[in-house]
Amino acid sequence: MSSLKAISVKEAGELKGTIEIQGSKNTVLPVMAATLLTSGISVIYNCPMIEDVQVMCRLLECLHVKTSLAEHTLTIDTREASYEPLPYSLTKRLRSSVLLLGSMLARWHKAELGMPGGCAIGLRPIDIHLEGLVKMNVDVNLHKEILSCETYYLQGCEYHLRFPSVGATENLLMAAVGAKGRTILRGAAKEPEIIELCNYLVSMGALIEGIGTDVLIIKGTKELVSSDYHNVYDRIVAGTYLLMAAAVPSDIKMTGIEDIHYLKNIIQTASKLGVNVIKFDRYLSIQSLGKVAAGDFETGIYPEFPTDLQPVLMTVLAKAVQDSSVTETVFENRFAIVKELEKLNARIQVKEQKALIKGNIKLQGHTVKATDLRQGAALVVAGLISKGYTTITDISYIERGYEDIVRDLHCLGVDIAYV
Ligand code: EPZ
Repeated sequence: MSSLKAISVKEAGELKGTIEIQGSKNTVLPVMAATLLTSGISVIYNCPMIEDVQVMCRLLECLHVKTSLAEHTLTIDTREASYEPLPYSLTKRLRSSVLLLGSMLARWHKAELGMPGGCAIGLRPIDIHLEGLVKMNVDVNLHKEILSCETYYLQGCEYHLRFPSVGATENLLMAAVGAKGRTILRGAAKEPEIIELCNYLVSMGALIEGIGTDVLIIKGTKELVSSDYHNVYDRIVAGTYLLMAAAVPSDIKMTGIEDIHYLKNIIQTASKLGVNVIKFDRYLSIQSLGKVAAGDFETGIYPEFPTDLQPVLMTVLAKAVQDSSVTETVFENRFAIVKELEKLNARIQVKEQKALIKGNIKLQGHTVKATDLRQGAALVVAGLISKGYTTITDISYIERGYEDIVRDLHCLGVDIAYV
């Protein structure tokens, strides 16, 4: 990752053009972990060419898995996979490194890995992952930053997640597929990424009931076969550009979205802000006058408004004529955007989990710093509505999840460049 690169963006008078939405980061990462459950070759199409995927490939390679990524097609060959501990130097670069826990335990009955890293958006413990695994007959030891897990055999169980954690649900699903007997996960996450993972596991021969609900019933099986996967579009990247359109007069065609089902909650919010979205056969038409309607918003678990888009929403609301509020209910510390938006002249007051955003303020270009993926993307959006030029530094965070935000905004006529 290049920590020196920055992006310079000029205030935009309009957004006009066609933008192609990349494949989903948060879907492909667990699917990559799931390939370990079989011995064979799996091809993943529409794979985003992003830093997090590269790191996941390096992690799989530590396990003697062969990976090759070219032109959005990722090939994973697990035929010669063999057990190794995963070093902290790699696991700390990616939150999803922890997702290898479930599939390693299913394949080798043991897993030793450094604690996961990822974006600093809160405490991000993994207690729910581990509590579920303990219920499945796993011994867990944490020494400094190294997590060691071992099981004589994975035993199906009934487990109620105290919070519908996306990662814990994914990890426990993968472990349950390789467990003896039946596992019932209650209070499971229902995010599109979980539905996609379940469908992928089913395509490998897994037996899962309740897909799309908060009760997942998994029957362990040894008969899995490798399977290919066509990745869905990235709903958070699409959502970034949908919300962005609220703040600048826009006439955008968005392609790569085969089905808007996973995007409905985001479209609803964009509509409230003043964006008009129409689905055509081959694209979404996105139009707005660039006048943001103020409102009170709240993040939540799917199908509510996603926490990942909260920084973009806050940014856009700085342009509303009246005051607005955004309440964050998923992460306890996800307001890193506020400090940077204030450098651009925004007025935001945070009281516990609620941010009050003063409307009718003209933002001024300045140098701001990306400190996590979505906050970084939101700062690029902020640059579009700030007078003059805005420079966003530390953009390696953005590269973790957006293939090329500069390319995308170029397609809409924005004056934007790497500097
Ligand atoms: C996934 O993270 C996403 N990451 C995140 O997107 C997203 O913000 C998050 O889900 C919520 O939608 C990936 O899919 C790779 P969680 P995850 O476990 O699985 C608490 C992005 O920008 N919790 O659902 O790590 C936790 O602290 C990223 O693309 C526990 O208390 O999220 C948080 O408050 C950022 N104990 C809440 O649950 C646990 O064991 C939700 O976390 C696990 C989680």
